[in-house]
Amino acid sequence: MSGAPGFAQYAPESLGALDLLASAVLLVDPTGMITWANAAAEHLLDSSLKALQRQQLDALFQNAEELMSLCSQALAHKYADLRQDLALERSGREPLHVHSIVSAVDDAGLVIELRENVQQLKLDREERILDQSQVNKELVRNLAHEIKNPLGGIRGAAQLLELELPPLHLTQLREYTQVIIKEADRLQTLVDRLLAPHRRPHIVGDVNIHEVCERVRSLMLAEFPNGLNIKRDYDASIPEFRGDKEQLIQTVLNIAHNAAQALSAQIAAGDAQLIFKTRVARQVTLAKVRYGLALDLHIIDNGPGISPLIRDRIFYPLVSGREGGSGLGLTLAQTFVQQHMGVIECESRPGFTDFRILLPLP
Ligand SMILES: Nc1ncnc2c1ncn2[C@@H]1O[C@H](COP(=O)(O)OP(=O)(O)O)[C@@H](O)[C@H]1O
Ligand SMILES: [Mg+2]
Repeated sequence: MSGAPGFAQYAPESLGALDLLASAVLLVDPTGMITWANAAAEHLLDSSLKALQRQQLDALFQNAEELMSLCSQALAHKYADLRQDLALERSGREPLHVHSIVSAVDDAGLVIELRENVQQLKLDREERILDQSQVNKELVRNLAHEIKNPLGGIRGAAQLLELELPPLHLTQLREYTQVIIKEADRLQTLVDRLLAPHRRPHIVGDVNIHEVCERVRSLMLAEFPNGLNIKRDYDASIPEFRGDKEQLIQTVLNIAHNAAQALSAQIAAGDAQLIFKTRVARQVTLAKVRYGLALDLHIIDNGPGISPLIRDRIFYPLVSGREGGSGLGLTLAQTFVQQHMGVIECESRPGFTDFRILLPLP
């Protein structure tokens, strides 16, 4: 360390205070060797102080160039404090998204502070969920096609068989062929519903979101004339946007319909409440793309909440929490929202369930 006093001049006890920090702190000498790391750094890098000490900083990451360049800039302009968001890659692990602050300390070397970038973590998670949901939908669609093809044959063969039944046992044996035909028809309907969202063309026009909400409101009130109170909380300044109005009506209707089903006890008691709330959101990232302005639509009910058993999976096809449910309502809603470049999220606890739809606005 060319005669520089280095961090050795600091007593270990004084460094120990850095262990109390939530940020990861690394001390690095001017040659790039790590001389000390606090507890948060050990945790973040999943390594012990002993293992970190005497390692070269650039050996920690596969893409350390940016970080190293920050270090040499900080050293060149002593006392400078350089900040940058980095994605540090380590073999066989997820990249570390950190906000890094590099400061030079006299001749002693560098203090590197790494703070985990929670926003980035959240985006990564959302991206994974989005990819996962697309993979799932493709799987279901392919499977539906595979089931659909032989179904016609099975049904046709059962009909032919029915014609050939010996008259003596006709009524008795027809029961069996009828089961085959009815079940084939039931599967056919299911498969058609699975394939439906991808069938109808996406028809784009100018959409006023409040017209969509009002349509759903009147449909819901027609179906539940007593005991369901639908409150509107609209932001009238929301501009029209390009979209498929029928798809959006179907989306909001599916969500509102689920809410009304969950609210059956409250509807009977007369204190069921559904709220349609619209707002604008600014600077949001939807499905990996950043938008200056977005529609923020909430459909909120005061029902019992989504069962914890299925909460993480409600958008998956065929996941249903009720007797006789198809488990397709929310899948369809999500598909339509995604076709509008938007996202759909849900927050739920007993007494409060909020489905939130975010769509880009012009
Ligand atoms: N607002 C809500 N409150 C409580 N549970 C809900 C709500 N919305 C959806 N769910 C749950 O999510 C499940 C999936 O909904 P959906 O995809 O529309 O399928 P389905 O209505 O055919 O069951 C429902 O069965 C229900 O258990
Ligand atoms: Mg439903």
